[in-house]
Amino acid sequence: MNMTKKILLFFFACAVAQGNICRADNVTYKVFDVTSYGAAADGKSDSAQAILKAWADACAADCGALENAKVMIPAGNFLAGPVDLQGPCKGAMVIEVNGVLIAPTDLGSFKKEWIVFRHVNGLLITGAGKIDGQGGAVWHKMKGNRLPPSVKLLSVSNANVQSISFINSKFFHLQIGQSVSVAVTGITISSPADSPNTDGIHVAYSTDVKISNSTIGSGDDCISIGPGSTNVTVTNVNCGPGHGISVGSLGKDKGELGVDGVYVTNCTLNGTTNGVRIKTWQDSPAINAVNMVFSDIVVNEAGNPIIIDQEYCPGNCDNDKPPSNVKISNVTFENIRGTSASDVAISLDCSAAVPCEIILKDINLQPLPPSPGLLPAVPLSTCEHISTSSITEGDIFPPSCF
Ligand SMILES: *[C@@H]1O[C@H](CO)[C@@H](O)[C@H](O)[C@H]1NC(C)=O
Ligand SMILES: *[C@@H]1O[C@H](CO)[C@@H](O)[C@H](O)[C@H]1NC(C)=O
Ligand SMILES: *[C@@H]1O[C@H](CO)[C@@H](O)[C@H](O)[C@H]1NC(C)=O
Ligand SMILES: *[C@@H]1O[C@H](CO)[C@@H](O)[C@H](O)[C@H]1NC(C)=O
Ligand SMILES: *[C@@H]1O[C@H](CO)[C@@H](O)[C@H](O)[C@H]1NC(C)=O
Ligand SMILES: *[C@@H]1O[C@H](CO)[C@@H](O)[C@H](O)[C@H]1NC(C)=O
Repeated sequence: MNMTKKILLFFFACAVAQGNICRADNVTYKVFDVTSYGAAADGKSDSAQAILKAWADACAADCGALENAKVMIPAGNFLAGPVDLQGPCKGAMVIEVNGVLIAPTDLGSFKKEWIVFRHVNGLLITGAGKIDGQGGAVWHKMKGNRLPPSVKLLSVSNANVQSISFINSKFFHLQIGQSVSVAVTGITISSPADSPNTDGIHVAYSTDVKISNSTIGSGDDCISIGPGSTNVTVTNVNCGPGHGISVGSLGKDKGELGVDGVYVTNCTLNGTTNGVRIKTWQDSPAINAVNMVFSDIVVNEAGNPIIIDQEYCPGNCDNDKPPSNVKISNVTFENIRGTSASDVAISLDCSAAVPCEIILKDINLQPLPPSPGLLPAVPLSTCEHISTSSITEGDIFPPSCF
């Protein structure tokens, strides 16, 4: 019923997905081009219905053992209202964005989300294109409103997000929730330093998430690893501007789960307000934030290069609340070096209820060069409620406070 093209590709590695739906070697694609469904690359007409129809056909297509269905968004500017792209599908799905997908600026056109992938097993999102959230038009309306994230993966498994760019999301750029085995690599995210809540990638209630080889600049955390995350790996990520790479915030709501297994290695943070951070709320449920390694991190003029904040509360807060019950243990900060834009280069503000068990190893955080005529700043480390089982190894500068 629609034009289908077959493109033969030679895959030397599994590009679509891991697990049983992975077919390495020669995969052909049956292409569902959104322009065949009425999408117009004029940057004005709403292409949402065309994208939904192309997805529905692709999702239902029985491509056989050696094919995948591919929804193609070709070059050009495509305005699109919210699209909820649902599975389960017959086989693994590919969506290739080579043009620019542009969000509406009228908040009335959204319920909660913009682009959602839901209940899909085997998904590759790729292409040379861009996802433009047009946040600039609405960031000032942020107060009290939860704005739509750009792309959300919800209950997705065996997914790869590759190559594409995200700009100016209204809220989080890429949100990964209730998902398993998601690899994000080679993507670029960019929004201004002062854009509110524009986290680059937010992970929650998900397991086996790998983020690599990406460049993220945003107005909030470059990457935030929220409640219910297990086994999250972040490697070779350049972050800045932004608030750094964070675990949390944790413990805000009743019934929240903790975080187990975070590996952040070989990352660079440039001009960020924090470096690597764990943030938890006071008066929290009793949960764990455990088994983490932050290693081989270079910070360049970052404020608070190493920070644990267990009294996290942006905005106006009641400071008389009971302490956090998020237990931080087996967290290693190793080989973290560079320059600190704040005097307190290592800030460990743990909870009186559950002192932190951490390991500091080989840290070298220097002050910025002084302004002419001024003395150089003396960087500090500060501690609250560090467990006696915490340890330091190697050279620590500024000297450890425990
Ligand atoms: C892939 O297809 C090409 C051309 O049909 C064929 O020569 C090659 O052997 C195939 N490779 C594998 C690993 O099946
Ligand atoms: C990331 O880049 C490194 C170094 O170039 C490369 O070895 C690795 O395979 C890349 N990772 C992915 C998932 O593409
Ligand atoms: C964590 O991820 C690694 C590599 O992907 C995998 O081998 C391991 O089984 C995972 N561990 C858990 C507890 O899920
Ligand atoms: C670490 O990151 C650098 C660039 O930021 C990259 O060239 C190098 O391959 C990475 N090392 C590893 C082990 O991934
Ligand atoms: C760090 O950020 C500054 C200001 O945005 C920029 O000029 C510089 O090129 C960046 N450095 C690196 C190494 O990315
Ligand atoms: C501490 O965490 C690391 C990283 O997740 C893990 O490899 C190690 O087994 C953990 N150690 C303990 C004693 O649980």
